[in-house]
Amino acid sequence: MKHLIDPTDLTLNEIDDILALAERIISDRPAYAEVAKGKKLATLFFEPSTRTRLSFEAAMLELGGSVIGFSSADSSSTAKGESVADTARTVEKYADIIAMRHPKEGAPLVASMNVDIPVINAGDGGHLHPTQTLTDLLTIKETTGRLSDLTIGFCGDLKFGRTVHSLIKQLSRYENIRFILISPQELQIPDYIKDEVLIKQHKDFREVERMEEVIGELDILYMTRVQKERFFNEADYIRLKDSYILDMEKLKNAKQDLKILHPLPRVNEISVEVDKDPRALYFAQAEYGKFVRMALMMRLLHLAEPQGKGEGTC
Ligand code: CP
Repeated sequence: MKHLIDPTDLTLNEIDDILALAERIISDRPAYAEVAKGKKLATLFFEPSTRTRLSFEAAMLELGGSVIGFSSADSSSTAKGESVADTARTVEKYADIIAMRHPKEGAPLVASMNVDIPVINAGDGGHLHPTQTLTDLLTIKETTGRLSDLTIGFCGDLKFGRTVHSLIKQLSRYENIRFILISPQELQIPDYIKDEVLIKQHKDFREVERMEEVIGELDILYMTRVQKERFFNEADYIRLKDSYILDMEKLKNAKQDLKILHPLPRVNEISVEVDKDPRALYFAQAEYGKFVRMALMMRLLHLAEPQGKGEGTC
């Protein structure tokens, strides 16, 4: 593992190792406070972010390293026409590892092909978001105790939601996962995920339009917002934006041990009254994101674990 561009860049063993390391970090945070001393993370964010950028930065700071970077294309020389490849080749001179978010699909891959330091895809257009996937896996594992034998409903904008595409790709590698895809016709999962992942691998999946029809079957409900920034016309966005709103009324028919996940940001697809329900895990999920990014960066940078923890270096 040199870079993380696509969630399937990681073997299942590597994922298990990263999740186990994240769990060790959670159980003894002070022990990891200096493992990245002298290392620098560059966060190159050409698109807005709260959780991904700040959790990467918090992760590196908690490991004892430091952070440089920018949070919009306008505040970098991209605004003057610099290419992704040239930006990455320059940043390689200043940092040990790059986390990049970009509106163009494939931009982090281009960066990784031009540098010798690890590049992490922090979200590329409507394509993939592999560190959100690691976050989601850690949340599911910590709260259900397993990554197999689950019925998971993905609800909302399954067309543009890169976190959904990444998580379906990844979960399809585990045993006995049933996928229920809840969306309006216009926001259904793209064919390349349906054909190449779900159909080709003979996965158990079905597509429905009404959440109420299936909510009682779910172990996990993965809500998503309608991705305004990916629509070509505003009228379509306005027509579709309120397709699903999860509230306490809809939850009446859900399992008592349902886990409600959302990569966030939320717009209005989960009513705030749901936040108090113990099944609502989305803010805990945002915290798991920091721990899993700590573990991922430790592995990509080949950082030794503190004495008495884990296996040493990878
Ligand atoms: N989940 C996620 O990617 O959130 P941000 O856009 O705030 O980084």
